[in-house]
Amino acid sequence: MYNEIHLNKIDIAGEPPAEEPARQYYFMAKCQDWVREFEQKKGRRPTAFIQTFGCQMNARDSEKLLGILEEAGFVQGADENSDFVLYNTCTVRENANLKVYGRLGYLGGLKRKNPDMLIALCGCMMQEPQVVEKIRKSYRHVDIIFGTHNIFRLAELIFRRLTEKKMVVDIWEGTDAIVEDLPVERKYPFKSGVNIMFGCNNFCSYCIVPYVRGRERSRNPEDIIHEIEGLVADGVVEVMLLGQNVNSYGKTLEEPITFAELLRRVEQIDGLERIRFMTSHPKDLSDELIEVMKNSRKICKHLHLPVQSGSSRILKQMNRKYTKEQYLELVDKLRAAVPDISLTTDIIVGFPGETEEDFQETLDVVRRVRYDSAFTFIYSKRTGTPAAAMEDQVPEDVVKDRFDRLLKEVQDIAAQVVMRDEGTVQKVLVEEMDTHEPGYVTGRLSNNTVVHFQGDASLIGQIVDVSLDEARGFYFMGTKR
Ligand code: SAH
Ligand code: SF4
Ligand code: F3S
Repeated sequence: MYNEIHLNKIDIAGEPPAEEPARQYYFMAKCQDWVREFEQKKGRRPTAFIQTFGCQMNARDSEKLLGILEEAGFVQGADENSDFVLYNTCTVRENANLKVYGRLGYLGGLKRKNPDMLIALCGCMMQEPQVVEKIRKSYRHVDIIFGTHNIFRLAELIFRRLTEKKMVVDIWEGTDAIVEDLPVERKYPFKSGVNIMFGCNNFCSYCIVPYVRGRERSRNPEDIIHEIEGLVADGVVEVMLLGQNVNSYGKTLEEPITFAELLRRVEQIDGLERIRFMTSHPKDLSDELIEVMKNSRKICKHLHLPVQSGSSRILKQMNRKYTKEQYLELVDKLRAAVPDISLTTDIIVGFPGETEEDFQETLDVVRRVRYDSAFTFIYSKRTGTPAAAMEDQVPEDVVKDRFDRLLKEVQDIAAQVVMRDEGTVQKVLVEEMDTHEPGYVTGRLSNNTVVHFQGDASLIGQIVDVSLDEARGFYFMGTKR
């Protein structure tokens, strides 16, 4: 992949190439020049720190951004006291935005102490014109702003900032391009996210993602397989296939292919042990996919299946394109095919017009499905989405009360559901040293439940048998076999 291209052979005296990714390797080499100068002056290499807000898609983007920074010569910094600080932002709910503005004030203080510091912002929030306007006006200490469609251009943007010496803003409204083969710096050596598609076409009425991530685009299956084979050769045993709606993968490719078929091909990669994916939209979950999950040895026994609401009336308003009954039927089909599957979900409370009756329908779904866990969100009004213009926004105190009741229900059920595996022996992928208990490690079951047990760092990245001695709410304490 990228290391086939040797940066020191790139002619940086000439003009930058027009085609990608060659153009970006040219700018990485240019940045390396600057890094060498920096090193001569300060006796050390510049540090770079990325803070990720938001979902797994953003986390994966951050790994790519860090890959570019390392190739450009930066070393990883531990925190915001770094020479280059990048916030990869999320805007799915208002509180995600507020966090970023808060941190930007703090960065201003750091920059006064280190005037050479570079501050960059990217990600979903930057795709909103009013956000960029506000930053241009009120946060002049920001150096580089870019969006979700052009992250591959980081080196070019840094180089521009260094030469132009003023704020660089590069936001694209959309793109058809998928630039492959740039460097990536993975957070974990043994597991990795893999983008299979970008963007979203569903326009759920509350959701801003389609506006900030653009139209749905699938990667070619060959590129995906090639990437996973490379990852496996590099020590990866678990992949998480990523997309806003993986079940519609491949529909718009020149040679259409289904998500189920992609999974069949990924399954055949030798050395790969576990396959996860997210997110599955219930409206597009096919019988073919259920069949593949049933027959697979590698697909994990876990499905994240966001329901959002249990009320068919609200689901219609949300533009989710399924009813409560259809969702429950789907769950029955899945459980019939894969009896030990764990189901998790996302739920929004307080969508405009939600009544106590609607909310009771949501509680009913939670009680019937019995999720292993659920992410519960208070509805957040996002400018530009259809729901933001709906009347009947639910008063805050009512929403808060529903949220608390929902959370209690979800947690009580999750604790009981997790119990069912107590006393069994199961395979655990060890992920890290336990952060609370010295001498312990932390890993995950196929169904994604967390397990802590005695062990040392040599186990990290290995799949081992562990007896699940004691369920403690949503996790287990175990013993290695
Ligand atoms: N593509 C995924 C979800 C991406 S956003 C899917 O369709 O399931 C992750 C979650 O954030 C959503 O499932 C939803 O529950 C929540 N969310 C999205 N917009 C929201 C909003 N305006 N207010 C509150 N929660 C929201
Ligand atoms: Fe948002 Fe719906 Fe797309 Fe998920 S499927 S990202 S909730 S619009
Ligand atoms: Fe947030 Fe963007 Fe993901 S808005 S949830 S980071 S796609």
